[in-house]
Amino acid sequence: LDPILVAIDGPAGSGKSSVSRAAAEQMDFGILDTGAAYRALAWACRETAVDPDSEPAVLALLDEWIYTISLRGEQRVQVTLPGGTEAHDVSAVIRTPEISAQVSRISKHPDVRVRLNNMFREIVAASGLPGVVIEGRDITTVVAPDAPVRILMTASPEVRATRRAGELVGESHEQVLADIMARDAKDAAVVNFLTPAPGVTLIDTSDMNFGQSIQAVIDTVDEARRARP
Ligand code: C5P
Repeated sequence: LDPILVAIDGPAGSGKSSVSRAAAEQMDFGILDTGAAYRALAWACRETAVDPDSEPAVLALLDEWIYTISLRGEQRVQVTLPGGTEAHDVSAVIRTPEISAQVSRISKHPDVRVRLNNMFREIVAASGLPGVVIEGRDITTVVAPDAPVRILMTASPEVRATRRAGELVGESHEQVLADIMARDAKDAAVVNFLTPAPGVTLIDTSDMNFGQSIQAVIDTVDEARRARP
């Protein structure tokens, strides 16, 4: 049986990741953070001295790496590099500002995206879970356009910067805002994740706290379930 899919897109700091995780837990669903794979791939490029701007080189790396992520619990992200035997736990290192700044160099490649999207679909299909929340930038439009629940989560740039600055130590609000705006601009050139596609539910969390944002997701899922028994 295929899992019920809840597709959630949105920019950095919209609350997308933490809200998706908490909503998935409350519904007893799995959670697939697709950004983690793009981040892990950027890390793998750095470790193996692959030029992230070269699509053929990144595709060759994708042929040989082993990527695993758990959809429940702590969501550990592990990478085995080409020719390697050790599965590196990259859960923490992929969240550093250095990696964040590098990811758009690999996420801009169309064929890299196709390959990762297929990997995401396989991970979900093989999960054996009743439902999976899958979050990223192009889930509602490209990865799972037929998902019964599709949500675009946004918040104003100022609110997003404030939230991110709270997570990052030692970076000023101005610096975080500038980083967010720069990354949005690069990402938006590849996929439009700032305006909802037709049929996608917009959840603006600018004036919502964490609990209210989670409830908004759960309400949207409940509504879709009622509409299709
Ligand atoms: O969501 P997160 O901030 O972890 O994503 C990191 C980067 O991965 C984004 O800035 C974007 O370049 C890329 N990404 C993407 N498509 C996705 C998820 C992430 O291009 N579905």
